[in-house]
Amino acid sequence: MMSGWRRDASLRYCSPTPKIILFGVVLLLFAGITKAIELLASSIVCSFGWDYEINFSGITTFFAVLSGLVFLMSIIEKTCRSARRDIKYVIRRTLCDSSYGNPLHLKDGEIEPSVEVSKTEKGFKIRIDCISANFDDVSSLETFISCCLRNKYADYAVVAKDEDLSGRYVNYYIENVVISYYQQSVYSSLADIPVHLTKRYIRNDVYIDYSRVLNSSAIVAGRSRSGKTTAIISVFLLPILKLGRDDFGSRVIIVDPKSAELSLCPHVLSPAPDGSVEHILNAIREFNLVRVERQRKINEFCKSQGKAVKWFEVGMKPSVLFLDEFVSISDMFPKKASKDRPDYSLADFQGLLRQIATQGASAGCFLIISVAEASVGTGGLESAVNNACGIRMLFKPSMDEARYLWSSEALSVMRERQYSAGDAWFSADDGINNKISFIKFPRLEFGEYGALSKLLSLYYDDTDKHGVEREATSTEARSSEATSCEAATREASGASVANECVGADCEGASA
Ligand SMILES: Nc1ncnc2c1ncn2[C@@H]1O[C@H](COP(=O)(O)OP(=O)(O)OP(=O)(O)O)[C@@H](O)[C@H]1O
Ligand SMILES: [Mg+2]
Repeated sequence: MMSGWRRDASLRYCSPTPKIILFGVVLLLFAGITKAIELLASSIVCSFGWDYEINFSGITTFFAVLSGLVFLMSIIEKTCRSARRDIKYVIRRTLCDSSYGNPLHLKDGEIEPSVEVSKTEKGFKIRIDCISANFDDVSSLETFISCCLRNKYADYAVVAKDEDLSGRYVNYYIENVVISYYQQSVYSSLADIPVHLTKRYIRNDVYIDYSRVLNSSAIVAGRSRSGKTTAIISVFLLPILKLGRDDFGSRVIIVDPKSAELSLCPHVLSPAPDGSVEHILNAIREFNLVRVERQRKINEFCKSQGKAVKWFEVGMKPSVLFLDEFVSISDMFPKKASKDRPDYSLADFQGLLRQIATQGASAGCFLIISVAEASVGTGGLESAVNNACGIRMLFKPSMDEARYLWSSEALSVMRERQYSAGDAWFSADDGINNKISFIKFPRLEFGEYGALSKLLSLYYDDTDKHGVEREATSTEARSSEATSCEAATREASGASVANECVGADCEGASA
């Protein structure tokens, strides 16, 4: 029932414990008063010399025992109180007790806010509804909520919020941020890298699901040495390479315009010594042709089965185009095509990217772009490509850079901290990670570039040059795939995904 808010009513907004204790104290006081009255009356009777015995000990004992029981009740109430009720009382007191600052700017007699707390997978959801308050005040309580959580919940803070579309209530999500801040996957060998057909694991419990993501291209931003390339290698490239190729022309194309560490790996494309990037454009064009062909095959499957089928249901494996340092590569294309090479220009490059980014996902072809500066990177991206980047990551984030990747409203729950390499804010529109969250990307305790070289050789079947390594990696990858895919099979919701993964394992073994 809704009731009127009162400014000087601190006790009213307390949890039941102090109220029960106060009731116990009152009962104890009654016991004391009864005893005092008994003593006073006895002394008066005595002084008059009357032969009359005054004995209130029954009533005194009654009040004393009752107060003892009430104190016991307060202890039981406090210890047995559920976490949900505990949090509810704290939040309600913060919002209603005027000594906490009255964040909703309520006036005497106005309707009090209603607070509902429910458990979520990682923490709690707090729903706040207040008819009398301004909706802007109800939707800017992150700091108040995070600050008022103490004792058992001191490590909890607001990590996300969502507003009711009709502007009635706001849901705040709180989680133990201290525990999750330090969680990180550490892979000591290639075998530890989890493999799944559609899931890209950042941590054991955090993954991006390609089968659910709406806009599946990825933009990875962050200053120099912030961990972008390592993250893409550990989360996307190594697992996809471990899956092996499919029978539909899948490929992993890596472009390193800086000709840095990545370019030392086989099959990685870098600009020619004369600065030409025409061969890179040709590789991207070929990637796009394969995409078109894969889509055609999927359409045939759809026709023959009379229903929509997804790339991962027909035996396809992810095909990836990774452009490291996107701004550098863009700068290398001629702004205008020359007469002798009419299809070698920046416009051709951008046109291909647009097609891959917007139409690739349905054929299992994914684009990953890394940029050193979010502002320059997103500025240089066509809006169609930018919008197709549903997977967004910002390494060693700052609020200024983050504004180029997310809306101010989505960022309102994020706080800047001291970050190290591999620390990032990320989101994906896969229905699981839509809200921006902080995460530590996996730490690799083995040579990532060596592992990448081995897997690329294995992937493209370089038997002549890398025969020995191929054998070693193949064994390692196979054993890892067996474990990972068993787990994937167990957890995969659809049988088709599970089957595909088992299929992937078989192919990995035969490769
Ligand atoms: N997840 C991580 N955990 C711990 N350290 C990491 C992590 N990722 C990267 N590093 C460290 O940061 C260094 C830089 O990483 P990386 O080369 O991936 O950054 P980058 O953003 O791609 O840099 P550049 O702009 O130079 O290409 C690595 O050599 C590694 O030591
Ligand atoms: Mg890099």
